[in-house]
Amino acid sequence: MKICVLGIGFIGLPTACLLASVGFHVLGVDINEDYLNKLKSKKIKLKEKNLNELLDKALNKTLILDTKPNKADIFIICTPTPLDKDNSPDLTYLIEAINSILPYLEKGNIIIIESTIPPKTTREIIKPKIEDLGFKIGRDVYLAYCPERVLPGNILYELIHNNRIIGGCTENCSKMVKSFYEKFVEGEIHTTTAEIAEMVKLVENSYRDVTIAFANEVLKTCNELNINPYEVIFLANKHPRVNLPDFGIGVGGHCLPIDPYFIISSFPKTSKLISTARKINDSMPRFIVSKIEKFLARKDNPKIGIWGLSYKKNTSDIRNSPSLEIVNILQAKGYNVKIYDPLVEGINYDKIKFESVMASNFLIILVDHDEFIKEDFKELLSLMDTPIILDLTNITEKITLPEDVEYYNLMKS
Ligand SMILES: NC(=O)c1ccc[n+]([C@@H]2O[C@H](COP(=O)([O-])OP(=O)(O)OC[C@H]3O[C@@H](n4cnc5c(N)ncnc54)[C@H](O)[C@@H]3O)[C@@H](O)[C@H]2O)c1
Repeated sequence: MKICVLGIGFIGLPTACLLASVGFHVLGVDINEDYLNKLKSKKIKLKEKNLNELLDKALNKTLILDTKPNKADIFIICTPTPLDKDNSPDLTYLIEAINSILPYLEKGNIIIIESTIPPKTTREIIKPKIEDLGFKIGRDVYLAYCPERVLPGNILYELIHNNRIIGGCTENCSKMVKSFYEKFVEGEIHTTTAEIAEMVKLVENSYRDVTIAFANEVLKTCNELNINPYEVIFLANKHPRVNLPDFGIGVGGHCLPIDPYFIISSFPKTSKLISTARKINDSMPRFIVSKIEKFLARKDNPKIGIWGLSYKKNTSDIRNSPSLEIVNILQAKGYNVKIYDPLVEGINYDKIKFESVMASNFLIILVDHDEFIKEDFKELLSLMDTPIILDLTNITEKITLPEDVEYYNLMKS
């Protein structure tokens, strides 16, 4: 069976490699030729667990990478769906990908959309393009939306073990697509309509954004009350039906700050809570900077060392990172900021090495990578110029600091 995966990025690459590894003939298509060449010549060191090895094997087996699609039994679309300047979904890449496969479509083909999309996109935007070629959906060509729910860092495991939602344009579409996923998915597979599957994906990420916003409000209120927000959340979660997430310095990454807008932009009247949650989470970096600045006033020309630039712990991903935003705000205010993040590389921050923060008189911990809480922490600290530690991660829950260190957990006050 031939499979053509379009968009060989965070989602498409592991998907293509996995499918090749279980025996499918896979054509991985991406418009970025330079990137494909680097993948083929192993010039990119992929951060995703086990992916370098799997890509190696897949390229030696049944995976071909190219810039153009070709005939296949199944087409899987994994192209980006970013926001435009008005925070509305930009479907350009998705539509270009669909247009690029139209000349190769044949009776019996399956088309699966895995990119995150607004409700009704599959039926109202994609389906007519296929019908215009004379195919009847559900009889000649099978079309379904199947959201991807993987966690970067654990994608290869989750591609197999996560539960799947298959939203077919017709029942026949769902049935055909289910029989494909059954070949490699070990989680539950649920079939439904395309609209429900589209909405499910957006609801999942909006739910997470809203609950984090609630935790962030709890944090701010506890700060006003001058009580410990960690303890409030910990004890509230002892209730059998309460399960609050952690508060934090903001929400980043590729999904949570974006997907809620796929609902808000089309249904503003019925998504006020989602919209408010977005604003609360977006407000966090500035809120954190105001906390930090209260301490910076203690020194003339403070030298600031930041630990952690990625959007969350143990990832190299800096997309929409609140930590990066905090750095940008501090730099725009004229502060001397240096950064250390052992996982982040390849961007314009030439200060990513530890040496850059050694002379800091404030050490601000924004992300608690495991790297930081290993034995090295005290060693690294001892190399620094006895900084005042401003912690936004509750790092002392995981390590004991040397006694002579001046330490403040900024979340607690
Ligand atoms: N990254 C995640 O964790 C995650 C999780 C769930 C869902 N998603 C969704 O999956 C989709 C893909 O996300 P991603 O993170 O893999 O994106 P990405 O930016 O990492 O990769 C997308 C790739 O598609 C390529 N591309 C663009 N237009 C193309 C076209 N017409 N034909 C072929 N290739 C094309 C780009 O060059 C890029 O390499 C998005 O809709 C995203 O919302 C992502």
